[in-house]
Amino acid sequence: MSEAHAGENFSAKSLIIIVLLSIVGLVLFLVLIAKLANSGMQVDAGGPTMTNEAVIARIQPVGVAKLDESGPPGSRNGKAVYENVCLSCHGAGLAGAPKFADTAAWAPRIAQGFAKLVEHANKGLGAMPAKGGAADLTDDEVARAVAYMGNAVGGKFTEPAIAGAGAVAAGGKVDPATKGKEIYSSVCMACHDAGVAGAPKIGDKAAWAPRLKDGSEAAIKIATAGKGAMPAKGGYSGSDEEFHAAAEYLINASK
Ligand code: HEC
Ligand code: HEC
Repeated sequence: MSEAHAGENFSAKSLIIIVLLSIVGLVLFLVLIAKLANSGMQVDAGGPTMTNEAVIARIQPVGVAKLDESGPPGSRNGKAVYENVCLSCHGAGLAGAPKFADTAAWAPRIAQGFAKLVEHANKGLGAMPAKGGAADLTDDEVARAVAYMGNAVGGKFTEPAIAGAGAVAAGGKVDPATKGKEIYSSVCMACHDAGVAGAPKIGDKAAWAPRLKDGSEAAIKIATAGKGAMPAKGGYSGSDEEFHAAAEYLINASK
């Protein structure tokens, strides 16, 4: 009887000890977790233990700032967008991004089809922020970069045309009145509408006359190469033929 009593006493005591030890253990565990979380924030930039969030926070501002130098918004091609934005993660495969030209990493993704890939790249997926963090990219610019990356692993994707699709017949002449006007409105207008940076204004015959004295072809040639504050092709990244159509449109409206 007394033995059983002692046994009861013992188990009640050990229960209290176990409960106390568990509480102490839990507190220690929480303190440890908090310490780990803090040290994660202060981790060395080059360290291998950076969280995806930390990697992404460091990468985004760099890419977005450099993108602006590659051409007017909307007109940047897949290569330019890739090199200025996507490369920061996809170049080395940071944060779990499928690496550029890594066929094995891309194969299951490519299998989803171009439309799905473009949708994911525009809306974001997992650790990948929408548009790779460059919110000012147009959906088409992102799609061009997806095509550029996809084609590097054997995809057969076509980059969406610059300044609207469909107006350029393959190998055909680019029409200044439609396509030229479209490119003018999306690229050249930024300077030539108001005469920014000394650009001859559209429709300003006096400003254009001296530039057209050797004919419009000579002026277009100069503009293709760039002159003074006018960047080569006005920063337009499409074909020479398309630029030519935009210049024709501009000149036709100014003589
Ligand atoms: C901050 C890092 C980061 C940047 C910048 C970035 N990506 Fe990604 N990308 C990722 C990660 C991570 C994944 C994998 C996401 C997943 O599967 O959870 C990914 C996946 C993708 C995929 C595959 C989507 C799918 O359906 O499997 C495409 C396409 C893609 N990125 C395109 C782009 C393009 C285009 C850009 C540039 C405009 C870009 N990415 C910039 C991190 C990035
Ligand atoms: C960033 C501003 C800017 C943009 C964008 C721009 N231009 Fe210009 N453009 C200029 C300036 C400035 C000049 C005058 C350069 C000079 O004479 O020093 C000029 C001159 C020209 C000329 C005359 C060249 C000559 O013979 O003097 C043509 C033609 C022309 N631009 C066409 C275009 C077309 C077409 C586009 C769009 C695809 C375009 N530009 C976009 C700034 C711009």
